[in-house]
Amino acid sequence: MNILVIGRGGREHSIISKLVMSNRVSKLYAAPGNGGIQQQAECVAIDEMDMDGLVAFAKEQAIDLTIVGPENPLNAGIADRFREEGLRIFAPNERAALLEGSKQFAKEFMKKYEIPTAGYAVFSDADEAKLYITDKGAPLVVKADGLAAGKGVIVALTQQEALEAVDDMLVSGKFAEAGATVVIEEFLEGREFSLMAFVHEDHVYPMVTSRDHKRAYDWDKGPNTGGMGAYAPAGDISREQLAFCEENILQKTADGLMKEGRPFTGILYAGLMMTEDGPKVIEFNTRFGDPETQVVLPLLKNDLLEVIEAVMAGENPRLEWEDSACLGVVLAANGYPDSYEKGLPVPEFSSGQGTFIVHAGTKMKGDSLVSDGGRVMLVGAKAEQLSVASGRVYGVMHSAPSMERYFYRNDIGI
Ligand code: AMP
Ligand code: GLY
Repeated sequence: MNILVIGRGGREHSIISKLVMSNRVSKLYAAPGNGGIQQQAECVAIDEMDMDGLVAFAKEQAIDLTIVGPENPLNAGIADRFREEGLRIFAPNERAALLEGSKQFAKEFMKKYEIPTAGYAVFSDADEAKLYITDKGAPLVVKADGLAAGKGVIVALTQQEALEAVDDMLVSGKFAEAGATVVIEEFLEGREFSLMAFVHEDHVYPMVTSRDHKRAYDWDKGPNTGGMGAYAPAGDISREQLAFCEENILQKTADGLMKEGRPFTGILYAGLMMTEDGPKVIEFNTRFGDPETQVVLPLLKNDLLEVIEAVMAGENPRLEWEDSACLGVVLAANGYPDSYEKGLPVPEFSSGQGTFIVHAGTKMKGDSLVSDGGRVMLVGAKAEQLSVASGRVYGVMHSAPSMERYFYRNDIGI
């Protein structure tokens, strides 16, 4: 089969590294890809949002299946467009992708189908939002309704921060249309974890659990980022808790979307908080998580293409997982997630000790690899125990030369 993967990050490199192992793949393309992907697939310079360009390419190259990494093209209707053109794509239609694209929609959906989540209220009027905040008091979480590249969530520990977030979004228009409506949520306490599943209509096949680390610095200090490291599985989640999530969160969501006339095909991602009252949904994504994918897919024993083909055909893919742990630490350019330099020489990590490298923001410049984003690479390892995987990753990272212009968290899996 000829396969096209859309995206340019670590998640997409990880998907491609898995597809390379499939003996059913004849030709692998990425649009636009990155410096690491380029070593495993043919990269074509078509932007993720260039629908016409992507459709034309898929037709020209007789692509048999397209897999989409990021959320923006999903919310712009890439899956609808491909299907209209008679092209196969493993991704949700725009109507189903709204579960990630609108937090208001997601909250109302969860309420209707009794899926556990934080209490909330929705506002587009700043004065009403502020009255609600002064009435409820801090802590509260203020969220832009639409897609804001992970930056539209303010965890306000004081009333003042919540009021400022409302001003930023509803008065100053910080996130433009995405912030023209805000969801204000009850603050949930507990430990976060992620649970992804392959979904087709009402068939749900969960993956192993994982845990992202969204804050920039050690011990969850600093600003929120796209994710600074992850591991799988999240070993503190019991079998019973997992079964509860599968049944009362993932399955109910897939069933609810069917009832709403928004049947889902693709990856459903639940960001969850294990609270004293049990697991609750923090957010849904309608795609593979990043960086969770980079530590979950290495544990999948099956051929990823066979899994996707089975799921799309309505068959059970019979997922099998390695009984080990996988952990990855992100190397980021100094200054990330705010302003940072691009075009930096990329450090060379000594491979070995069972570690692997996933490229996120890299590209080839002449014969050398340079950085091309804030999150540049992920160093990962698999081992029977999380602490061993962590030791291997940090062994490689601590001993790498030329790290002055980069930083990484030292506490992933510690
Ligand atoms: P999101 O983009 O919705 O995943 O939110 C980003 C981060 O904000 C999450 O990973 C949580 O750490 C935090 N967060 C979001 N919603 C809540 C909530 N209701 N209670 C506590 N923390 C939250
Ligand atoms: N790791 C969270 C996300 O992919 O949005």
